[in-house]
Amino acid sequence: MKLTGNTIFITGGGSGIGRGLAEALHGLGNEVIISGRRKGHLDEVTKANPGMKSVELDIASPESIKSVAAKLIAEYPKLNVVINNAGIFSVDTAEGVLDDEVLVSTVTTNVFGPLRMTSALIEHLKGQDAAAVIYVTSGLAFTPLAMAAVYNSTKAAIHSYALSQRYKLKGTSVKVLEIAPPYVQTELGGDQQLNDPRAMPLKEFIDETIKVLGTDADEVLTERVKPLRNNVGPNEYEFVVKMNDMMTAAGHKS
Ligand SMILES: NC(=O)c1ccc[n+]([C@@H]2O[C@H](COP(=O)([O-])OP(=O)(O)OC[C@H]3O[C@@H](n4cnc5c(N)ncnc54)[C@H](OP(=O)(O)O)[C@@H]3O)[C@@H](O)[C@H]2O)c1
Repeated sequence: MKLTGNTIFITGGGSGIGRGLAEALHGLGNEVIISGRRKGHLDEVTKANPGMKSVELDIASPESIKSVAAKLIAEYPKLNVVINNAGIFSVDTAEGVLDDEVLVSTVTTNVFGPLRMTSALIEHLKGQDAAAVIYVTSGLAFTPLAMAAVYNSTKAAIHSYALSQRYKLKGTSVKVLEIAPPYVQTELGGDQQLNDPRAMPLKEFIDETIKVLGTDADEVLTERVKPLRNNVGPNEYEFVVKMNDMMTAAGHKS
């Protein structure tokens, strides 16, 4: 996609990947509006990036989504890009009884959230000369980490939805893109992830992602995530076992 002159709304822009994308796109000459629940985080990011705007949003609440969408359309009529980045991660217990709170909160935030947000903005986006709906999924949508079966499933669901929506919007001004990150140094899985040497440094991830986002690719993939993305196929379980055995040996719960 074109990387300048857009008006971009990013969910979960107060930290991690969302903040990284927001800052990079702001620096490239786009109007950027970030959102999330923690006002302190939003204020810190807008203060560090003069001109960037923010709005409080709880993506798990249909009412919050509706009111934020209405506000965005009223205050930013040029809005032409939505980046569905907000998400949560939990370990779970697919080998036994699931914690219903983990199940409901993860599906509500990671699946209902982006679908409802996109749905609330789609008719507005269709009215723009060039627009994009971007979903942040995960390499784990393609090669699952068994200790987070619900999380992986939510990301696989969004991948599937994006394929359908891309087809349905073929020939319109709206492009449907997917960013599938590898394991990245953020707080998603807890404080230890920020400094985990096995995770990709955030800046490296953002730099490579922005480069690919500037091309015509529908799927925005870094080199690091390609083994996970490209594993899908008839013999995919072999690599799923290999990766999960490796993670277990490295001390992750499984
Ligand atoms: N880091 C990785 O290894 C990795 C790998 C693959 C995919 N991803 C995906 O990348 C995305 C960003 O994650 P991250 O790694 O940058 O972690 P992060 O720093 O924890 O960011 C998650 C963001 O989502 C927001 N969020 C969570 N629940 C929300 C809610 N109910 N309403 C509104 N905002 C909400 C959080 O803001 P508030 O708490 O302030 O609401 C936070 O800013 C997620 O979708 C994640 O699944 C990350």
